Amino acid sequence: MGIVANPYKTTGFMGWIDDRFPATKMWRDHLSEYYAPKNFNFWYYFGSLALLVLVNQLVTGIVLTMHYKPGAETAFDSVEYIMRDVEWGWLIRYMHSTGASAFFIVVFLHMYRGLLYGSYQKPRELIWIFGSLIFLVLMAEAFCGYVLPWGNMSYWGAQVIINLFGTIPVIGPDMVVWIQGDYSPADATLNRLFSLHVIALPFVLVGLVLAHIIALHEVGSNNPDGVEIKKYKDANGIPLDGIPFHPYYTVKDIVGVVVFLMIFCALIFWAPDGGGYFLEKPNFIPASNISTPEHITPAWYFGSFYAILRATPPLFGSALPGVIAMFGAVLVIFFVPWLDRSPVKSIRYRGPYYKIALALFTLAFIALSYYGMQPPSDFGTLISRIGMAVYFAFFLLMPIYTKLDSYKTVPERVTHEAH
Ligand code: HEM
Repeated sequence: MGIVANPYKTTGFMGWIDDRFPATKMWRDHLSEYYAPKNFNFWYYFGSLALLVLVNQLVTGIVLTMHYKPGAETAFDSVEYIMRDVEWGWLIRYMHSTGASAFFIVVFLHMYRGLLYGSYQKPRELIWIFGSLIFLVLMAEAFCGYVLPWGNMSYWGAQVIINLFGTIPVIGPDMVVWIQGDYSPADATLNRLFSLHVIALPFVLVGLVLAHIIALHEVGSNNPDGVEIKKYKDANGIPLDGIPFHPYYTVKDIVGVVVFLMIFCALIFWAPDGGGYFLEKPNFIPASNISTPEHITPAWYFGSFYAILRATPPLFGSALPGVIAMFGAVLVIFFVPWLDRSPVKSIRYRGPYYKIALALFTLAFIALSYYGMQPPSDFGTLISRIGMAVYFAFFLLMPIYTKLDSYKTVPERVTHEAH
């Protein structure tokens, strides 16, 4: 008998635990008695996959940190040492570097699902806000990580990105020196980015992911029909269209994990540098402040934002408008729950305006991502400017076209039939 008898009637070892810690309660609340809509489809794999990739990054990151030596004189060589001399070091390093790209692929698709099914609409605004914060921190985390091997693209990438702060009026130039701890990216810069990459940002990221999932489980998941399953419950208060997350979705998610791991392993073993898109060629030579790479381009996942930065015309010789546009392109994502005035959630019941807008946005995002990775050209700038106009129009005109759109009647219950 415990101090206070636990309500789960668990006995033995679990009973002892449950008297002191809500283990069974948590298992039930978040897994075996968390009722998720029964009509989840392909797009719902990416939440659990994002968790998997997060764990992969944390575990491989810890092992890499055991062998990596931050410092302008040691970083590059220590990465080469990991690749050549540490047992299985090459695998751990590629799991981490390819994992960064996998993280963005998975998170982009996960966010896209939100746009397809209006998952950010009331009452899920906070899930989206936490998600947007995760995205912001993830970008900072990826940037810091990219600098750590201290290859030539690390160095010049850091130079370009940190110098963006220099466009801030009055305090900008001093801020650049303060951030770098020097007059150009140097030992001090590398050490502080290392500290952010291995401690501060992962800590924040994990905290935000927990908040994201707690918020999700508070209101319950949306689904491809965008109907609230909590509206129709049986006599026991269980949603009629809900099924326990465990075992149904734990098993379904394993299918996603297996397919994901097949693709992920194929990339790691046969194309770990992603043809220069995951790991860029100049990063295989050590950082040098006297030899600039032919073209300074970011990793593919920053392509769209970098294209926006480059395509924005400067003002009185200052790149400040580009910096504002680039940060604006990320910040606007936070406001989607309030920009979308649609009375329905899912694209299944939306009219043509939203469908056309989303299709154009998709093309614009792909074009921006592509041209952001290419050397500057007149044609690239033209496409990037059109892409940027479409990108911002998609968000900023959303209140108008979602209001004017026509809508189909949303069914009362989810439309899925078990097969
Ligand atoms: C480390 C990154 C992330 C992790 C680990 C993560 C994890 C998850 C998980 C496990 C779910 C529940 C399963 C699912 O619905 O697929 C979920 C739902 C959701 N996530 Fe994320 N997420 C991440 C990033 C993001 C980002 C960047 C956004 C958007 C800006 C976002 C928006 C959402 C929304 C709106 C839902 C609710 C979906 C629904 O109920 O239909 N997440 N997330």
